[in-house]
Amino acid sequence: MNQVIDLLNNHRSIRKFTAESISKEKLNAIIQAAGSAATSNNIQAYSIINITNNDNRKELAALAGSQTWVEKSPVFLVFCADLKRSEDVCHYEQKEMASGYTEQFLIATVDATLAAQNAMVAAESLGLGGVFIGGIRNNPEKVCQLLKIPDHVYPVFGMCLGYPDEKPEQKPRLPVEVTLMENYYSEDTSYLGNYNEICRDYYQNRSNNSRHATWTSQISAMMSVPARPHMKEFLEKKGFSLL
Ligand SMILES: Cc1cc2nc3c(=O)[nH]c(=O)nc-3n(C[C@H](O)[C@H](O)[C@H](O)COP(=O)(O)O)c2cc1C
Repeated sequence: MNQVIDLLNNHRSIRKFTAESISKEKLNAIIQAAGSAATSNNIQAYSIINITNNDNRKELAALAGSQTWVEKSPVFLVFCADLKRSEDVCHYEQKEMASGYTEQFLIATVDATLAAQNAMVAAESLGLGGVFIGGIRNNPEKVCQLLKIPDHVYPVFGMCLGYPDEKPEQKPRLPVEVTLMENYYSEDTSYLGNYNEICRDYYQNRSNNSRHATWTSQISAMMSVPARPHMKEFLEKKGFSLL
């Protein structure tokens, strides 16, 4: 339809990179694009930490569950939801911030996520590839210690970026007929069989890590075990009390 839509529809996560580094100019363009994303009330409640220290990279790779690409990618960014900036702004205006609201947590998390998706798309438009790393939430307290992340800020995910040294097949997504509903929420689940067939083919025939799986087998395996149950306590400790 147009080049932007083609680029978006060509996305795949990249976990293997060439040794070529990303120029400062390109990285700046990526971060600028991240900052151009929409943001709730222009609060801009996010920060991005570029991890250039090799020891910290190694440690983060281990903390994220031994994800080697975290250590090896030319660039590794940590996207943080950042309400400390809003707190600083309130202090600047001699006001106390009304902290700890779930809504603020959502605003900051959404802001960080929108900025990150802009960064990913900008990177892909420059011929780079990358992958989001939610694995840094396996050990969020240790990540905060390592990166000196203060209260009212938390690392939402990381992002590896670099020039792709692989071209994995694209993971099939749900069809528009399923994700787009008209006027009312649709509880129809009759699409599952068809989508499972498409995903079964993908998993069986992909060049890397071929396996017997379907979408429902994958997702149900993941969603039927506790999901990082430490997050609630961690967020509360960081000042995101979820009032
Ligand atoms: C918030 C978020 C966290 C993710 N965390 C990881 C991760 O820790 N490690 C990883 O290898 N991939 C991670 N991914 C990548 C997803 O597994 C990937 O996007 C998904 O399987 C779809 O594949 P695709 O991006 O190739 O289309 C993450 C993606 C998102 C959006």
